Amino acid sequence: MDEGDYTPRVDGGGESNDSDDSDHTPWERPASQAHEDPERTSESTLDDSLDDSVDGADPDPTDDTDPTDPAEDPDPAEDTGSNPTDDVDSEATSLGKGGRDRSSPDVDFDGVVLDNDDDNQGLFDDLLSGEPIFENKEVLRPSYTPHELPHRNDQINRMATILVSALRGETPSNILIYGKTGTGKTASAKFVSQELESTSQKYDVPCEVEYINCEVTDTQYRVLAQLANTFIEKNQAVIADRLEQYESMRADARDDVVDEGAILAGTEFDTLAELDDRIDELEADAEEMEEVPMTGWPTDRVYTTFFDAVDYHERVVVIMLDEIDKLVEKSGDDTLYNLSRMNSELDNSRISIMGISNDLKFTDFLDPRVKSSLGEEEIVFPPYDANQLRDILQHRADIAFKGDALTDDVIPLCAAFAAQEHGDARRALDLLRTAGELAERSQAEIVAEKHVRQAQDKIELDRVVEVVRTLPTQSKIVLFAVILLEKNGVHNINTGEVFNIYKRLCEEIDADVLTQRRVTDLISELDMLGIVNAVVVSKGRYGRTKEMGLSVPVEETEAVLLSDSRLGDIENAQPFVQARFDN
Ligand SMILES: Nc1ncnc2c1ncn2[C@@H]1O[C@H](COP(=O)(O)OP(=O)(O)OP(=O)(O)O)[C@@H](O)[C@H]1O
Ligand SMILES: [Mg+2]
Repeated sequence: MDEGDYTPRVDGGGESNDSDDSDHTPWERPASQAHEDPERTSESTLDDSLDDSVDGADPDPTDDTDPTDPAEDPDPAEDTGSNPTDDVDSEATSLGKGGRDRSSPDVDFDGVVLDNDDDNQGLFDDLLSGEPIFENKEVLRPSYTPHELPHRNDQINRMATILVSALRGETPSNILIYGKTGTGKTASAKFVSQELESTSQKYDVPCEVEYINCEVTDTQYRVLAQLANTFIEKNQAVIADRLEQYESMRADARDDVVDEGAILAGTEFDTLAELDDRIDELEADAEEMEEVPMTGWPTDRVYTTFFDAVDYHERVVVIMLDEIDKLVEKSGDDTLYNLSRMNSELDNSRISIMGISNDLKFTDFLDPRVKSSLGEEEIVFPPYDANQLRDILQHRADIAFKGDALTDDVIPLCAAFAAQEHGDARRALDLLRTAGELAERSQAEIVAEKHVRQAQDKIELDRVVEVVRTLPTQSKIVLFAVILLEKNGVHNINTGEVFNIYKRLCEEIDADVLTQRRVTDLISELDMLGIVNAVVVSKGRYGRTKEMGLSVPVEETEAVLLSDSRLGDIENAQPFVQARFDN
């Protein structure tokens, strides 16, 4: 294939057409977004932490199954184990309860198992016996793709109107989709892509959609390699199909089943020699298509491989780049530049890009040409209001929960809480699922308002824990100073007080001491993250100072800070802080 004189922009190894382009402004994540990611991380680990915090904070009173209690030992075989203490304990217990003497030589093991089933509940029996609240919990998880997306008709229709040209063999305009987190961008894009592919199969038109999550696939090399390998695989399947068809024609001819003219009638071949050539050609093509390794090739070779693979036959390809801002943040706009220029070089195929982002600021860092090409069409996903969230939750709840498992106020309350959080459907669904799980753990029959409130507290705490855990060490020390002051009953803490304690703490753990001005900046950052609440107060002729208080629970935050190995030793610093206030 002839690529003309176009050379792709690559991030290593290859040459660039345009030397200016390789000099990119590094894309910086705005501070306001810094706390969004941890929130999402904590969502994914919600289940694990749920176990911990629920079990730890509120041991389930109805759960009387104690795995450490030998009387409840679900596995009698363990009593024959080598640990003599265990043997004595369990023997005593079973004898005390009128059980058989297990030391007897003719112990009937099967009998023991049956007895055990009758008398005692196994570890899981209690948990299983409760009438479950959920019918299908998976439906509330982020991985579930709903078949219906209420309140996204406008956006879905706009996407469809633009992408329908792909089904007509034309190149759809590139689309940029943006909206805050949890507004249904990914769910809608996946829905549209499924519809597009199924329609293209129905009408047998060569239209394909490739979805890439750029949070995972975040370099030009990886994006191009993933695309190249996908198309190589598809091409191999097409080649295998054709070869099968041609080889059976060839076999028919060899066996003289039908004469040559009849075999070739209606095909692109006039003679059997042409058919043979085509078979050889396809075999050579299949041989030549080499998969791209996950690392190691120069980027321009990966690009050429992708180019050849996608152009192997006629088709329109829609490339969906979800979380496109992550790709630009990590590796600049080379990938987008190369992809958006490909159509002028491709002979058989056409590509169209659909970028999805929850942060529009990333376009500021794009080459103006890339920016205008990518944003040919823009679709905005506005936040949901409480009523819309109610509908979304109701649709899911109908499938997720048993009938009558929710009191009437559960869904409106989840919707109201999530609407306060910039109309985030993910948050609303998380609340509903967590509320259901909390109700289930406490063996309640139905999910009630109190479970939603507990779920809200739990999710909020998870978020705080995650934000605090990922703070830089210096910010952690500053925060710890605030906590110590607050624990010692100081209210309206001012910057000077924080700085004094901070200095002592740094000396304790041998950390660099920053200037008071820097510490004030760190306090402002903690304020932006919602960890402290700082206000500037005027002290008349003494100037102005910042006064602050903690906006997060003291105990939990302190525990997270102390779990950092560098700060772990600080615990011993308590006396000197106390001493300061005694004077
Ligand atoms: N209109 C809707 N109907 C049903 N479920 C929805 C709707 N909108 C969003 N959801 C659900 O809410 C959750 C979050 O949606 P989605 O992942 O699409 O958000 P997003 O806009 O891509 O967010 P982010 O920017 O964080 O990636 C998913 O579980 C999704 O199924
Ligand atoms: Mg998304």
